[in-house]
Amino acid sequence: MAGSVLPPGLSRRRFLSAMGAAGGAGAMFATMGALGLAPTAHASAGYEPPRRSDFALTGRGAAKVVILGGGIAGLATAYELTKGGYDCTVLEAADRPGGRNFTARGGTVQTDLRGNTQTAAFSEGIYLNAGPARIAQWMVTLDYCRELGVSIEVFANANASGFVYNEAAGMRQPERIRTAKADVYGYVSELLAKATDRGALDGELTATDKERLLDFLRDWGAIGDKAAGRRYLGSSRRGYSTDPGAGDQAGVPLGPVPSLAQTLADGAGRYFSFDFTYEQAMLMFQPVGGMDRIPMALARALGPQRLRLRTAVTRIVNAPDKVGVTFLGPDGKEGHLVADFCVAALPPQVLARIPHNLGADVQAALGKWQLGTAAKIGLEYKSRWWETDYRIYGGITDTDLDIERVWYPSHGFHGPRGLLVNYCYGNHARQYGELSPEQRIQRAVEQGVKIHGAKHRTELADSFSVAWHLMPHLESAWAMPPLGTPAYQLLGKPAGRVYFAGDWLTHLTAWQAGAFESARLVVRRLHERVLSR
Ligand code: ALA
Repeated sequence: MAGSVLPPGLSRRRFLSAMGAAGGAGAMFATMGALGLAPTAHASAGYEPPRRSDFALTGRGAAKVVILGGGIAGLATAYELTKGGYDCTVLEAADRPGGRNFTARGGTVQTDLRGNTQTAAFSEGIYLNAGPARIAQWMVTLDYCRELGVSIEVFANANASGFVYNEAAGMRQPERIRTAKADVYGYVSELLAKATDRGALDGELTATDKERLLDFLRDWGAIGDKAAGRRYLGSSRRGYSTDPGAGDQAGVPLGPVPSLAQTLADGAGRYFSFDFTYEQAMLMFQPVGGMDRIPMALARALGPQRLRLRTAVTRIVNAPDKVGVTFLGPDGKEGHLVADFCVAALPPQVLARIPHNLGADVQAALGKWQLGTAAKIGLEYKSRWWETDYRIYGGITDTDLDIERVWYPSHGFHGPRGLLVNYCYGNHARQYGELSPEQRIQRAVEQGVKIHGAKHRTELADSFSVAWHLMPHLESAWAMPPLGTPAYQLLGKPAGRVYFAGDWLTHLTAWQAGAFESARLVVRRLHERVLSR
């Protein structure tokens, strides 16, 4: 198969370098994939990228497409269309590609909508993935990492050695997640076993079912048998105050075991379903070196001539046979682009502010998405005290504090420095957004000290924070779609020659996978339309 597609007399290497020169890295990757020389992204739901050869017998040519927004959806749209020879131009208002895929490193400068400017002074190798930071194994995002040559590593989304700390519930000190899980599962098992023994479930269960359920509960909750009253009395799953070791060091089990009432009052169980969810279950992954390796690779594949940064769209005009886009370029001067099609890959509320002639129904539909916010605070430390003092290597601590959770780094283990992340949503994110960057850090550190003690403050080296509703050109962390409504259906279709793309038009809102899937859907529909002209 590989040999048959090569023009006669053309070596594979010469053919590929010619493709690279003519079509950029995107075309080259696609061609290498077709030749079986590079892995190609898995087809999601039968997705096939446009190919130049699709036009071979039709006499039709690829079209010119202007793409509004250089986030993942916009970049992926251009990347996929370029494989088919489309003439794509991406207009991005910010000075970097990626949109919410934003990695702050030493030297990153960001000014928010309140005029707060931060410059990250992180050390070499330290970064904050301020937006997306984890990728599930089933997500198409990993296929793009493979295709684009972006290396990945495990992102620890759960760790039994992390803590849970619910201050408002009256917990006096943080508890290891392993301990909290042992107690919650233990007591739930005890209750269910007792109810089963007392016949409370006889209407639902046969005698055999009951035996099987009791077997499961004995194992799952580490509870006693019937003779022992099915009681949960703790187990080594809770952990040890002195770990087992050599000789006669059997280990000292962690105690005392809290009562059932205390276990329920602590409320630790509220966090346990998180890693049952399809999106968040381990294993999860992250690109080596920062999440922005993905948009950078897409931008490289497109080439600078297809991606215009610091270019803000000011008007969209849909005409019967073309689309006109007006913009302000990096020099502050107005410019115009005329194309066959437009793909608007901007957040809906940002798109809604741009004058257009797409119709009142489109404008009304854009207002139906519910905007959500989130904040991330990155704290660089001079030492990795969570590894040395607490033996925590990656994963998450959950709290009811306003910082909500602490992420420990999943990479750089045993290195000199590392970065903790506080990640909160909704009102907490808004409250942090109200504060100056310095006040945010002060507040967040005050909270963190409750979990980790003094080193959470004394070892701090630098910090950088993002409240997403205050990020220029983005203005929210995500937009929740009105699924199943006419508004969602309307924007799922083009308005004339203007298509809409983004995670906000998928069932994968707030995931890069949504942006990629949306881009593929739009590319497929646009390409079908062009082929049927
Ligand atoms: N996808 C986002 C996260 O993982 C919401 O936190």
